[in-house]
Amino acid sequence: MILVVGATGQLGSQVVRRLRAEGTPVRALVRDRAAASDLAATGAELVVADLREPGSLDAALTGATAVVATANAIAPTTRGDTADAVDAGYAELVARAERAGVSRFVLAAVPETPLDARVPVARSKRRTEERLAGSGMSWLSLRMPPFTEVWLALVGSELPLRGEQRATLHRPYAALRRFRRLTGRTIDRFGVMVVPGPASARQAFLSVHDAAAGLAAAVRPEAGAGPLDLGGPEALSWTEVAEIYARVLDRRVRVVSQPAAVYAAVSRLAAPVAPSLAGVLALNRLIASSETAWDTADAARRLGLGPLRTVEQVLREKAALPVR
Ligand SMILES: NC(=O)c1ccc[n+]([C@@H]2O[C@H](COP(=O)([O-])OP(=O)(O)OC[C@H]3O[C@@H](n4cnc5c(N)ncnc54)[C@H](OP(=O)(O)O)[C@@H]3O)[C@@H](O)[C@H]2O)c1
Repeated sequence: MILVVGATGQLGSQVVRRLRAEGTPVRALVRDRAAASDLAATGAELVVADLREPGSLDAALTGATAVVATANAIAPTTRGDTADAVDAGYAELVARAERAGVSRFVLAAVPETPLDARVPVARSKRRTEERLAGSGMSWLSLRMPPFTEVWLALVGSELPLRGEQRATLHRPYAALRRFRRLTGRTIDRFGVMVVPGPASARQAFLSVHDAAAGLAAAVRPEAGAGPLDLGGPEALSWTEVAEIYARVLDRRVRVVSQPAAVYAAVSRLAAPVAPSLAGVLALNRLIASSETAWDTADAARRLGLGPLRTVEQVLREKAALPVR
């Protein structure tokens, strides 16, 4: 039995679907059973628990052989879901998983960068990796670059969200809703792509569906242990992404770059009054000041993954879907 923590998220729900499609028994940790009928329909068992209520985790872990953890507080929908609270929940989850006899723990993580200590989500991933390394469990932390279906929407398009179930960017988080209303269609309407950092910075954009396949595959101990970088099949600059958008949408698309210093300054201002928003801005700062110009074909082979989706493939598939 595999416990998926974060099962109602964009990536987490894909992990549930993928494992269920393989016939693997899955327990999906949810906070609202009534809002998870799509997950129950996959045949997954639902368990109601919350990372912020450590006592609720024990029942969720009973009988689980492995945990796949994707939960995070980047788009919080419940009061009190701060990065620190979720991080404390991860500490409990790791300790209680070991006590419950879980033998394998798979973490959805972000790349290691020199800024990690200053970015709540990255800081929490590093701490969780340390806790896992200090546990007796076999573990794998899949460090992944920006997801195509998330970040290519964040820079100004609805296209990457077409057909996506439980999209992070559709979560009812007020700050995100306002941001999307302002910036969500600048590519589609005006041909303007607003990107974090230099237009020349390269990222190995990974489809969220390939990320889910990677996490599902990482449950097998043969996938190895420790941190593992998994990127998409090509490392593209934002300029190259704009060229792909231009081809797919058949319109001119120009890149407007937002310097990392802008995100750093606004994040500092937001921190005392809106810590969640500050966390999102800090993540943008991290993306703006780091690259993932990776070739991770070996990692994909180690996980037994088939060909990974290119950005152009994802966008063309989306463009062929009906608009809702
Ligand atoms: N997006 C990217 O580009 C990217 C790149 C690399 C790595 N990653 C990592 O990949 C993962 C993305 O996951 P996702 O797309 O599924 O996230 P998501 O769509 O943002 O969903 C967040 C999930 O976390 C759960 N959660 C939050 N607080 C919780 C708590 N206190 N107790 C239990 N569950 C809680 C949410 O539950 P509710 O629905 O109940 O709120 C939801 O299931 C993250 O770990 C992220 O750091 C993302």
